[in-house]
Amino acid sequence: MIHNDSKLGRRIALLRKEKGYTQEKVGDLLKVTPQAISKWEQGNALPDTLLLPPLARLFGVSIDYLLTGESLAGKAGPYDGEYRKENFYWGIQPSELAGQIIDILQGDTANKRLLDIGSGEGRDAIYFAKCGLQVDALELSAPGVEKIKRYSRLSGYAVNVIHADMIGYDLAEEYDVIYSHGSLQFLPPAERRKHFDKYKQYTKTGGLNAHLIFVEKPFIKLAPDWERNEFFFSSGDLAGYYHDWEILRCGEEIIDCDSAGIPHRHAVNCILARKI
Ligand SMILES: C[S@@+](CC[C@H](N)C(=O)[O-])C[C@H]1O[C@@H](n2cnc3c(N)ncnc32)[C@H](O)[C@@H]1O
Repeated sequence: MIHNDSKLGRRIALLRKEKGYTQEKVGDLLKVTPQAISKWEQGNALPDTLLLPPLARLFGVSIDYLLTGESLAGKAGPYDGEYRKENFYWGIQPSELAGQIIDILQGDTANKRLLDIGSGEGRDAIYFAKCGLQVDALELSAPGVEKIKRYSRLSGYAVNVIHADMIGYDLAEEYDVIYSHGSLQFLPPAERRKHFDKYKQYTKTGGLNAHLIFVEKPFIKLAPDWERNEFFFSSGDLAGYYHDWEILRCGEEIIDCDSAGIPHRHAVNCILARKI
């Protein structure tokens, strides 16, 4: 039960204006009257619980944030401190996998939508936007979200930043590309199957999914910044999830990394697959 709260109304009004939507537009998208939106904003009525997920999605915030005005501070990631710094922890060079997606698209990016899950500071999200894609950048870390927005402003390439937890995040529309780079280890193993099913379901036929994930190897030491809520994949997991798609690339390699300022190695598995 949500308490009637004019702060919630003010937040809805603020988020709506930030997105540049009128009450009519929001009403249209949520299939409610503009009067209903006006009542919520004035604190005279509350949105139906079932409308909270689409409302949060529309504004690019978590339900948590929509209701409380607080970011998911309790679930802050290990990178928050790094993302607050001026420099870019992950650099601004796009990843190799991001470049491969652009190569496959061969310039056919107009009106194509891409979801980048766990965007970090936005190096790939901005690159995709620069290449002409419409990008939704989903990130849990509040400082990460701020950094992506700043990078977007400075570079002049617009991305739609979604401050949300990928775990349980509902997709509303289909994408041409769903992408993640080094972030799906934050999905607890019991959650993986349904999340991959969702990513596949919300990809257009002919569209792409591309992921880089970390696999466990006995000869690779745990990275210095590996957290307790990160879970390794096993070799072959990704190919298993995409067994019914056309696999364009699937490979495993050992990469060097010096995140946390300490040189170390990761075993990674990349997949690039097309929905048939
Ligand atoms: C290893 S970083 C990779 C960042 C970016 N993809 C890149 O390659 O530069 C993983 C990212 O996933 C984000 N993340 C962790 N858990 C998340 C969750 N539950 N929902 C959304 N993002 C999450 C972290 O905050 C972090 O920015």
